[in-house]
Amino acid sequence: MKKQICLGIESTAHTFGCGIVSFDGEILANERAVYTSQEGMIPDVVREHHKTHADKVINDALQKSEISWKEISLIRFSQGPGLAPSLVVGKDKAIELAKKHNKPLIGINHCVAHLTIGNLVTGFKDPVYLYVSGVNTQVIALENKKFRVFGETLDIGLGNALDKFGRTANLGFPAGPKIEELAKKGKYIEFPYSVKGMDVSFSGIMTKAQQLIKKEKVEDLCYSFQETSFSMLCEIAERALAYTNKKELLLIGGVAANKRLNEMLNLMCEARNVEYKPVPIQYTGDQGAMIAWQGILEFKAGRKDNLNVDIKPHERTDDVEVIW
Ligand code: ATP
Ligand code: FE2
Repeated sequence: MKKQICLGIESTAHTFGCGIVSFDGEILANERAVYTSQEGMIPDVVREHHKTHADKVINDALQKSEISWKEISLIRFSQGPGLAPSLVVGKDKAIELAKKHNKPLIGINHCVAHLTIGNLVTGFKDPVYLYVSGVNTQVIALENKKFRVFGETLDIGLGNALDKFGRTANLGFPAGPKIEELAKKGKYIEFPYSVKGMDVSFSGIMTKAQQLIKKEKVEDLCYSFQETSFSMLCEIAERALAYTNKKELLLIGGVAANKRLNEMLNLMCEARNVEYKPVPIQYTGDQGAMIAWQGILEFKAGRKDNLNVDIKPHERTDDVEVIW
């Protein structure tokens, strides 16, 4: 029987991506172009970046997967949350292609797609998700047909906190990998440990690390920053596991690359008899395969309308009803 296939387009922020995924979950292509700049994300510049790269990224994905437009059953695009100027590029391109090739089109929630691609590539069914990226730090789990945010950072995401400290200490950008390296040779200095229920706060650690740059060895600051912030993450993840009684913990987001964080979460999970996995690094960042896969899940569950294809820059994870 002919395989059914979905093409997914991602453009919520710095990445324009296109993924091609079969209905049984095989990722056939996952191409992207990432806007990078020291000045941060200037909306007009990001929009132009995406416009310039869109056709090439999509054509590369089709070529890599050896799939023709005839074989594509659905087109899906990320509808939000995100930066409106970036989102519009993906939406317009998706509408153009859906009309040209006569394919059904639906918008997808980007954050939910980050979670469900994690399940696809790890084989997990119903984990607690610890989502630690630049911007986000959240503990999420499925409860009563919604992905609920049980806890989150009250100020900045851990990745951004690491990067800001790194900027002050001249460690380059992004600073996470360099901090991980330096931390291997560090000793512990006490840093502010801040957990409130299932919420965390990182600004105290960041400020203290920045203040001590001239007084302490950078290795000790990196080590202490990591040990303190990662212990906080272990505590809130453990609390969410205890509360929900789930038996799997999935780490997602760019900070998932950190070996020490993985080691600490793994130890905590072993002690609780919970299975632990990080998302493989190529699926932690923004990409189109997650949009395609989420589209397939919703399609299989019966979501077939293609009426609302406007962008939703502020759509929350728990706005989406989990029907699949
Ligand atoms: P989103 O908008 O989807 O939340 P993002 O762009 O904010 O994504 P990601 O691309 O998921 O973030 O992750 C980038 C962050 O991960 C950076 O802050 C970077 O410093 C951090 N990071 C990358 N590698 C490591 C590492 N080995 N250890 C710690 N942090 C890391
Ligand atoms: Fe994202």
